[in-house]
Amino acid sequence: MKQMKKWPALAFALAALITVAAQTRSGLIAKNGAPETVYSTYAPADSVKTDPETGLAVDEHLTLVKGQCTACHSSKLILQSHFSRDKWIERIRWMQRTQKLWDLGESEPAILAYLVKHYGPIDQPFDGRREPLKATKWHKLETGR
Ligand code: HEC
Repeated sequence: MKQMKKWPALAFALAALITVAAQTRSGLIAKNGAPETVYSTYAPADSVKTDPETGLAVDEHLTLVKGQCTACHSSKLILQSHFSRDKWIERIRWMQRTQKLWDLGESEPAILAYLVKHYGPIDQPFDGRREPLKATKWHKLETGR
């Protein structure tokens, strides 16, 4: 009987431990106990100033990009993109081929550098969510049609 009384306390301690461990793993609690900053994938990091008019990151090429890239559409199309250099080139070529985007000429390398720097692929470390399934065998649903 004496042994039994310890169980609730032990179970409670274990549950608390698991909860803390899970929250640490999921990033709710940082390793040092402080709440971890949650970065949005949309806005650039806090250290980068954004242009109030377009929301584009402020740097030496902003004026250039603003002039060349917001003439036809909202800057939101850029803000929501996270492309590699190759993918940015492909998008620009696509706009040139189908949307009457002009030849960017000598400005192209600077524009590309700006786009890749601020709107490049996001490679965040594993953030605590489960990793994507690798080899998944999907089942075909029988629709009866
Ligand atoms: C001549 C007009 C024009 C200019 C200038 C222009 N675009 Fe576009 N762009 C378009 C059109 C049209 C679309 C398609 C819009 C839509 O789908 O609603 C588009 C789409 C996009 C998209 C979305 C593509 C996707 O697949 O998600 C991005 C990103 C983009 N433009 C970036 C840029 C950048 C960067 C520049 C500057 C180098 C630029 N655009 C300059 C016409 C232009």
